[in-house]
Amino acid sequence: MAALPDVQIDPQKLPALLQAMPKAELHMHIEGSLEPELIFALAQRNGVKLAYPSVEALRAAYAFTDLQSFLDIYYAGASVLLKEQDFHDMAWAYLLRCKAENILRTEMFFDPQTHTDRGVPFEVVIKGLTSACERARLELGVSAALIMCFLRHLSEESAMATLEAALPYRHLFIGVGLDSSERGHPPEKFARVFAKCKELGLHLVAHAGEEGPPEYIYNALDVLKVERIDHGVRCIEDPALVQRLIREGMALTVCPLSNVKLCVFKDLAQHNLKTLLDQGVKITINSDDPAYFGGYLNQNYLETAQALKLNAQDAYRLARNSFEASFATQAEKAGWIEQLDQTFQRFAA
Ligand code: ADE
Ligand code: ZN
Repeated sequence: MAALPDVQIDPQKLPALLQAMPKAELHMHIEGSLEPELIFALAQRNGVKLAYPSVEALRAAYAFTDLQSFLDIYYAGASVLLKEQDFHDMAWAYLLRCKAENILRTEMFFDPQTHTDRGVPFEVVIKGLTSACERARLELGVSAALIMCFLRHLSEESAMATLEAALPYRHLFIGVGLDSSERGHPPEKFARVFAKCKELGLHLVAHAGEEGPPEYIYNALDVLKVERIDHGVRCIEDPALVQRLIREGMALTVCPLSNVKLCVFKDLAQHNLKTLLDQGVKITINSDDPAYFGGYLNQNYLETAQALKLNAQDAYRLARNSFEASFATQAEKAGWIEQLDQTFQRFAA
């Protein structure tokens, strides 16, 4: 397990350290970064009629009882995205945020079916997102990559058709994931699609154990052969599974504020992140859908640290895990971890 460099850090400096330390974000849905203000601006630009009269009314509707209650509003919000420029603008707003939050690497999920099912061509989606990623590299020094997610409430045939449509753009995304309504849509529903993606050399991840049972985590690992588990917090119900995750160094991309907003945990103080981290699970912190869940990545770190009494050692492990679990090259990871170590040296008493 990665140890903190041999330094003492004043606990009072922890909030500033959390903000300043270099980090990676491995679980965020780019459509979940659409702020109400941008939704309204894009609706006006594209002549799309919204079901809410104002930004305030839309924001007031962000009171969720579970994953599905959120997804209904999230898909409605995405309906304003029609043109390549819209996708670029959405991603660019998030990437500026990455720069401000010292996120050196982000692996962004996108949901093509949410758009292609409304008649927006795959090419429009991927080109708008890709140009924003390229601009972030050049103008911000932020490394940004794309992971294409299949919507699990739709059929396996639809996922396969999406993969077919994506093939001409294979070089523009690094992996595939599985998201949307988890309950009743187990990983094995997508066994053949993921097998094909593996043959194509794509990285594989899947949401599992957010609302679904530990069995879904086992099947994401054993049937889909994923390299990271998104969420995964329900692993704690099965000690043998936790031991396996530790043994295999399997990363969980945990999203604390999301988990509270979607009622997976009653409040942050009840969250099992610290328990799992202390046991040796490769935990990372992520924002999931920051525009909907009350904060971007640093807000997730800050509120979690406060609620679970995290220390500098925990902060170091979380940030280091985020780089190690990324799909960047070994050389890139080493460079970022070097910067992380330097930041901790700088904060030492
Ligand atoms: N799509 C966007 N956010 C999601 C989440 N937290 N779980 C499943 N699907 C999602
Ligand atoms: Zn998610």
